[in-house]
Amino acid sequence: MMKNNLEEAKLTVGKVAKRCGVKVSTLHFYEEKGLIRSWRNQGNQRRYKAEVLRRISVIKAAQKMGISLQEIKEAFATLPNNRTPDTKDWEKLASNWRENLTTRIHYLENLRDYLSGCIGCGCLSLNHCPLYNKDDELAAEGVGPVILDRKVKKV
Ligand code: FES
Repeated sequence: MMKNNLEEAKLTVGKVAKRCGVKVSTLHFYEEKGLIRSWRNQGNQRRYKAEVLRRISVIKAAQKMGISLQEIKEAFATLPNNRTPDTKDWEKLASNWRENLTTRIHYLENLRDYLSGCIGCGCLSLNHCPLYNKDDELAAEGVGPVILDRKVKKV
């Protein structure tokens, strides 16, 4: 027989915070932001379902990649709120997010690979700059690190 949400929600705030390596205040913050959900037991204490551990781990991993809480919230909006998300639900989220993550990965790779060279930012401070950005001619093409952005756009 399928357990209801309250029956499934067994984890205390302390257990979740410890397992995920976050402060209790962070859990409250994520809940305020609508990223996670808890249920109240008969003693009116917060209880979480085990799936919250996955949500919090994904939030932390995404934040490490510079993804905003708002973007994470939009991605989580595809997950069911009334039951524990299953593999199919997470696959759907992953496919929605794949392009965004791929672009970020490419940007980070470019930053890693081209940081020692001219990135076309207008500083003209490196030996390579006159070769790639004579008199900051790239300013006509765009703002910021034009060469870096160009490489990502090509992906
Ligand atoms: S690195 Fe800034 S213009 Fe070359």
